[in-house]
Amino acid sequence: MALLSACSSTGGPSSSSDAQSQAPAGAKVVAFSQEGLENDWRSENTQSIQSSLEGAGYKVIYQQADEDQARQVEQVQNMLQQKPDILVVEPAEAEAATPIAKLAEDAGVPLIVADRSLGVAPDPTTQYKVLITQNWEDMGTKLGEAAVSLLTKVNGSPKGNIVELVGVLGSSPQVAMDKGFKAVIEQHPEIKILDAQDGDNKRAPGMQIMEDYLSRFPAGQIDMVWAQNDEMGLGALKAIQDAGRDELIGRIISKDGQVEAIQQVASGTFATVCTNTPYFGPIILPYVQDILAGKDVATTPDKPFTCFESITDAGLAEAKAQYDELKAAGAKFANR
Ligand code: AHR
Repeated sequence: MALLSACSSTGGPSSSSDAQSQAPAGAKVVAFSQEGLENDWRSENTQSIQSSLEGAGYKVIYQQADEDQARQVEQVQNMLQQKPDILVVEPAEAEAATPIAKLAEDAGVPLIVADRSLGVAPDPTTQYKVLITQNWEDMGTKLGEAAVSLLTKVNGSPKGNIVELVGVLGSSPQVAMDKGFKAVIEQHPEIKILDAQDGDNKRAPGMQIMEDYLSRFPAGQIDMVWAQNDEMGLGALKAIQDAGRDELIGRIISKDGQVEAIQQVASGTFATVCTNTPYFGPIILPYVQDILAGKDVATTPDKPFTCFESITDAGLAEAKAQYDELKAAGAKFANR
């Protein structure tokens, strides 16, 4: 097994799927398993976790699985054979990643799961100590409410047709956001979802799927786009602009809080973006420290989020102020 520096020369996460950091002799070892590096969110997220842990003096063994859930389970198995002190996992799909909890249990290594869930819940009597994620169902509810407001604004009442760009079917954000979103829009029988295709949380597939929707549904048949992440939303926007379908400008909602997407809200091109900050390093670090010190930790702490919108004048002004602030700070994503 090749042992490489955990960070690339540009300071980003290693593009290798297999890396190990330098650390002082005797440093505690954190095994960090990332589901993939599919977009900027994942790269920022990986770098944040690696640099926080290394900055606190831990040795980090890192592997990423290119979004292949079976490979991630195998990688976790291999990392556990190296007897780390603690395991941090960001899984891809909940059910397929569930064996990871048993692997940690059998190895006697405490487990922290972040961003997406497994199919089992954390339990302080087991090695699976904590799940750090946001309330995706709540976010789906907020985005459903945003969809209702937008459709009411453009059609005079809560009615209209939605096309959806799905972010990894079976992942916990997808499943829970879908639940929250549908619970809101299903209260309005004249709101319909025309189609929902998986764009894998990436820009190019988001653009291709939107091109397909635009060719199948002529002007007047689509009222808005629900993209389950900003990358796909930005891909959809490009398809809309290239096709000259100007009626859909300002009709995209998405999530992540990528500054490029908040900029679109600030210019009225996106209707709503809810944040999911990728900067998990400072959030995870105290849990690693407390668990290794033998302390009890909260099993499902809340990770807050914010939504920005251009549907109202006040929302637009707030989005502009937020964008200016993030731009001045040189940030790629909102910080919370
Ligand atoms: O699980 C969170 C999602 O994973 C982010 O929204 C997305 O961009 C990333 O791929």
